[in-house]
Amino acid sequence: MPCTIRQVEPPQYPAVLDLYRECGYAGLITAADRVLGAQSQGMLVAALRICRDHGEWVLRGLQVRPAHQHHGVGGQLVAAALHQIGPARCYCIPYAHLRPFYARFGFHKVRHAQTPPFLAERMIDYRARRLGVILMMRPAVASNGRRQGGPISFLRERLGHPVTAPPCP
Ligand SMILES: CC(C)(COP(=O)(O)OP(=O)(O)OC[C@H]1O[C@@H](n2cnc3c(N)ncnc32)[C@H](O)[C@@H]1OP(=O)(O)O)[C@@H](O)C(=O)NCCC(=O)NCCS
Repeated sequence: MPCTIRQVEPPQYPAVLDLYRECGYAGLITAADRVLGAQSQGMLVAALRICRDHGEWVLRGLQVRPAHQHHGVGGQLVAAALHQIGPARCYCIPYAHLRPFYARFGFHKVRHAQTPPFLAERMIDYRARRLGVILMMRPAVASNGRRQGGPISFLRERLGHPVTAPPCP
């Protein structure tokens, strides 16, 4: 099912909120959010919010209608959002079972000590509601093209000498 990814403008936000409601997701859209939508045969089939919060980029509210899941739509929305964000650091709080899905886009699980306080508070709230979520981060890209703040750069800083990532299998 081919779909088109587009930025959703405020007059179309009610359609996103309808989709959210149908998917059983209670999130809202704030004025600071940018919303991306996936359209198929004239219907909004998925949405994602790019949020600017406490000076950080956070992906929120990724929802794909059940009939359209597992066709690459969610992945296309995440890729489009990261393209818009550019080289900056970006966070998301997905369900733990979606860790491999987000890892495909360079996100890795964040250690508790490295969690920004506003996201630590959000995690406490989600866990109080018994949502099995984890905090993930896609590190920023430095001007030399290397990602900053990932596990490899963390080791590099700690050991004080170059550390290379293991080759992909
Ligand atoms: C999770 C979700 C956003 C993925 O979107 P999608 O369009 O189905 O994803 P894609 O087709 O791009 O990628 C599919 C891959 O993502 C992973 N994935 C998707 N749903 C998954 C799930 N429930 N459990 C584990 N992995 C999952 C799998 O690797 C899957 O590969 P497969 O199709 O070969 O099984 C979508 O299924 C969804 O809206 N789910 C319900 C709401 C939700 O969980 N939102 C995410 C909140 S962080």
